[in-house]
Order: sequence, then C-alpha cells, then structure tokens
Amino acid sequence: MCGIVGYIGNEQAAPILMEELARLEYRGYDSAGIAVLSEEGICLTKTRGKLQALRNKLAAGMPKGYSGIGHTRWATHGAPSDVNAHPHLDQKGQVAVVHNGIIENYQALRKELQAKGCVFQSQTDTEVVPQLLAQFLQAGEALLPALLKTLDRLRGAYALGILVQEAPDCLIAARKGSPLVVGVADTGNYIASDIPAVLPYTRRVYLLDEGEIALVYGDHVEIYSEWGERVDKKIYEVTWSVDAAERGGYDHFMLKEIFEQPKAIRDTLQPRIRQGRIRLEEAGLTEEYLAGVQRVVLIACGTASHACMVGRVAIEQLARVPVEWDVASEFRYRNPILYPEDLLIVVSQSGETADTLAALRLAREKGCKVLAITNVVGSTIAREADRVLYTWAGPEIAVASTKAYLTQLLCLYLVAIEMAYVKGKLSDETYARYIQELETLPDKAQTVLTSTEPEHALAKRFCHCRDIFFIGRGLDYAAAMEASLKLKEISYIHSEAMASGELKHGTIALIEEGVPVVALSTQGQVAEKLHSNIREVKARGAVVICIAYGDSSLEDGIADHLLYIPRTDDLFAPLLSVIPAQLFAYYCAIERGYDPDKPRNLAKSVTVE
Ligand code: G6P
Repeated sequence: MCGIVGYIGNEQAAPILMEELARLEYRGYDSAGIAVLSEEGICLTKTRGKLQALRNKLAAGMPKGYSGIGHTRWATHGAPSDVNAHPHLDQKGQVAVVHNGIIENYQALRKELQAKGCVFQSQTDTEVVPQLLAQFLQAGEALLPALLKTLDRLRGAYALGILVQEAPDCLIAARKGSPLVVGVADTGNYIASDIPAVLPYTRRVYLLDEGEIALVYGDHVEIYSEWGERVDKKIYEVTWSVDAAERGGYDHFMLKEIFEQPKAIRDTLQPRIRQGRIRLEEAGLTEEYLAGVQRVVLIACGTASHACMVGRVAIEQLARVPVEWDVASEFRYRNPILYPEDLLIVVSQSGETADTLAALRLAREKGCKVLAITNVVGSTIAREADRVLYTWAGPEIAVASTKAYLTQLLCLYLVAIEMAYVKGKLSDETYARYIQELETLPDKAQTVLTSTEPEHALAKRFCHCRDIFFIGRGLDYAAAMEASLKLKEISYIHSEAMASGELKHGTIALIEEGVPVVALSTQGQVAEKLHSNIREVKARGAVVICIAYGDSSLEDGIADHLLYIPRTDDLFAPLLSVIPAQLFAYYCAIERGYDPDKPRNLAKSVTVE
C-alpha cells in the first residue's frame, strides 16, 4: 500500500527522503509528498502523480532542514489529488503526519474536531491525526503524553510518521496494524514502512512491534510501548539484497501477494461488517436498493471474470435473482438486452481494462446503474461507475492476479448475502452463520499457507507435463477456471478447466495414461457426481490430484494426491481452494525456470482492446 519514510540527522533531509521514496516506488502509488522541518517551520511539498511530479515541484529548490517525513500514497479515503496526498498538517501547520492504514473512526473524530473549530483541507481519514495531536500539544501536554492520548483515540490500523515543530530534535514513528521500521546509522536515523527504503543507508533496523512508538533523534532512538513504558529492543541486521527486500524477502511478488491474502481478506471484510450486519452503504447499496434489485449482470475480463462466475452462483443461489454473466469483450458487441432497473456489476482489479470500461459505458448509455468492484481508488472505472465497492487488497504487482481475486470474491459474497437477507431469502440464523464463517476465512487462508511443501512437491512431479486439466462442479467449476488460468499464464503448460459433467462430451478424448487431472472437490451436494467423473478419468489412466477439505469423505483411492484446505461452508470454498492452485502454478513456473512475475505476452493492465 502506501509508503512511509523519514530522516533525522546531520544531513539535509529532503534529498534523503526522495531517495527513500524512490526505493518504495515498486509498491505502486498515485501521489507523493514530503515535509521538512526548516528554520521557517514545516515546509510541505506534495502532489498527485509519480515521484517525478514531486521532483518537478522541488526543482526550484529543495526545502532546507535536517529532519523530515515523506509518503507515497495509494488512495483509500478520498481520490488521488494534491490535497489528499500526504503529509497532512494540523490547521496551524505545526504538526505533519504521514499515515498508512485506515483510521476507522475518523468521521466521528472529524466531527468532534470540527465542533472545536478545526478546519479540514482533505477528504482523508489521516488528517484527524495531526489535528488531534496539535490540540493536545496546544493544551500544554508534553510530546509523549500528547502522542499517547492521540493514539488512544484512534481505531483501526496505522503506521504513522510525525514531525512536530515544537520538538525539532525528534521524529515520531508509531505502529499498530501496519508495519514500520527504524533504521539506525552514524549520520542519522530513518523511519520507513518497508526495509528497502533504508537499505541504501543502513542494514541495522529496529522492527517496531504492535503498538510500539519510537522517538527517533539524530543520535539515538527511544522505543516505548503503547502504555508509554520504555522498551529495550534488539537491532535486527538485514541480510537480504535490496532486490529481495522489495519483495519483503519473498522470491517473487506473486508469492508475496499469495501470502498477503489473509490480510487482504481481513482488510476487505472488516470495514463492511458491523454489529453482525453487512454494511454496503458506502457503495450506495442500501437495504431498500438491494431489496428492489430484479436482475444482476456481471461483467469483467480474465481473473475478474472468474470471480464473477462465483458471484453468479452465489447471488442466484442465495438471493434467487437471475444473474447474467459475460466477459466484457463479448458483452459489448452482442447488443445486450439491458433494462434500466438492472444492477450491472463490473469487476476490475486495475479499474482501467479497456473492454470492461467500454461495457460500463454501454450499460450507462442504456440507463443502467453500474456498480464497480475495483482495487484502485480513482481509476477510470471507479470514476465512471455510479457506485464503487473497493477491494482492499493493496497494490497487486505480479501480472498473475491472486489477492485481488480473493477480495473480488469476497465483495461479491457480501453483495449476495446482503441482497438475499434484505429480500427475506435468508433466515436470521443462516445470515449470522454466514457472517461468522466469513470472519474465520482470514485464519483459514493462513492455515492453507502454513506449508507450501505439498504444492511444491506436486509441481516438481508434474511441471513437465504437456497438459493439465482442472475439473469441478458448481462453485468448484468456477474456481477451477481460475486455477487453470493461473497455471497456463505463468507456467505455459496447456491447461483447460471443465465442468466435470462435460468431460464425456469431448475432452475425455484427451485423457490418457499419466495425464494429470486436478479435481476440486468441495461441493457436498454434487460430491457423488464428481466422484463418478473422477473415476471416468482414472479409468483412462489419469493421475488425479484432489483439492478437498481436510475432513472430507473422499472415496478410498479416488485421489492419487491430495491438497487439503480447512472446512468452510461450501459457498465460500472457492476462497480457499484456489490458494493451493495458485501455489501449484507458482511452483510449476519456478521448476520450469520461468519468472512468474513477468509472464510472456501478458500485461498487468490491458488498456487497449
Ligand atoms: C489482464 C491481467 C489479468 C486480469 C485481467 C483483467 O489480463 O493480466 O490478471 O485478470 O487483465 O484485469 P482487471 O484489472 O480488469 O481486473
């Protein structure tokens, strides 16, 4: 997500902040800024756009000063713009703050501060932090107590870098839920959300733990607990290369992003569940609106279209509303029948895919209301849609989509469950049970990631096969589509996904001795039917890999290999069953000697037709 940097020491801060920010560019961002404490006070420079835009703004002269903070922003609250870019100041310009994460109670805090006469410049959740801290300082509190009182008021997740005019010899770093490190060197000390930012200067860092606060001086660092007690911390020596550090120690972005999935699920889910209710009003999906929806049309490309296949089943099964599904490139050219009352949902990680955007425009021309489910705030699709439900997956860098897919599924499940509930199709008990189960999914996803050994071992065994087939029924079929796409796009092994009942109408002709078939087997209702299909391929020599619940009642000997996932409601199984498939695809690419982050012929964002 966003990047935080800071410096205090003997050198000019601004060039160091710019270099640190450059080290975080790989993370993806839409605006950037720095604040330097100069003799005249806090000097702020920020802009929408890339670091080059910030450099251009600074070309007339860098602010002079020996301490400062900087930020690259990936918009969450408030569109990408100069004013929403960080750092943010209190209204007197004496406290500057950069922030990663989401302050969940910012609206309440903002109202409270406005009632006391505070004027806000931006739409961000962050701006409450400098305003609040400034209030405590102006009331005569010393720095640390004022800070503790400020942090105590914040709900949600944050990593903060703070510059205070009244305390020119120190920088503040505070962490809760979002990572932050303090780099230590002879000529000064650094703060950063990610280790790569400080690596040009030092390999010695303090890794702040949950709730910890650091007062960073030019020549020493003091670390405190969230209760204000001094903490004695060991310095961590970074042994990774700069290149590996950008990937957080993972060999590839794809693997890093696969491992970020539990967090992505949590971040997407948590803000939408309050007091046992799914809340989607942020996207204009009020009870009244959802209750009136008569038909849903789901449109997307690639991985996002596979998320829509799951969404189609979920919405139809739960809400009993007819759903049409199509890929955007087909939809736009078939003169689709659309009614103004339809809810058209476009799903797009980037928010820029040309075909999806064209489908959105077509639907709006026909008078439909369009809901966008996207990962990029301020993207074209987000701006042109009538309503937006954001997936909070964070920037996805690997071309092969992983964490974005999971969060797209989650948003579609939330729409399906809430629509079903307000239409009276779900009992209170079932609704509560679904919500409870959704809340367990980050931990269950984490369980799947406990060991990657089984997937790696299977990849070693099968990576040289010519074809690998994926089969399943119902939601397993929808998940199989994505599993198969992952494999072919990064390993270049030919792969097809089939509704397993369709095998006998053609594809079974391709099954011969030793051909691997991956059977997704999570849907209890059709388990026996799937088992028959597995027997059909086994009878022709296929080697069968089953992805199934750890406690599932698979028939003896039906699978040659098993990849287990924790049990969940069958409805949510695609969220877990795709993870072993992502890992299998990743390791097949590695074993074949390909770079999974840069598959040939593919682009992350396809902005041409
Ligand atoms: C490209 C990417 C895929 C992605 C698809 C749709 O093909 O390589 O990973 O699923 O575009 O992109 P979107 O940004 O609209 O989700």
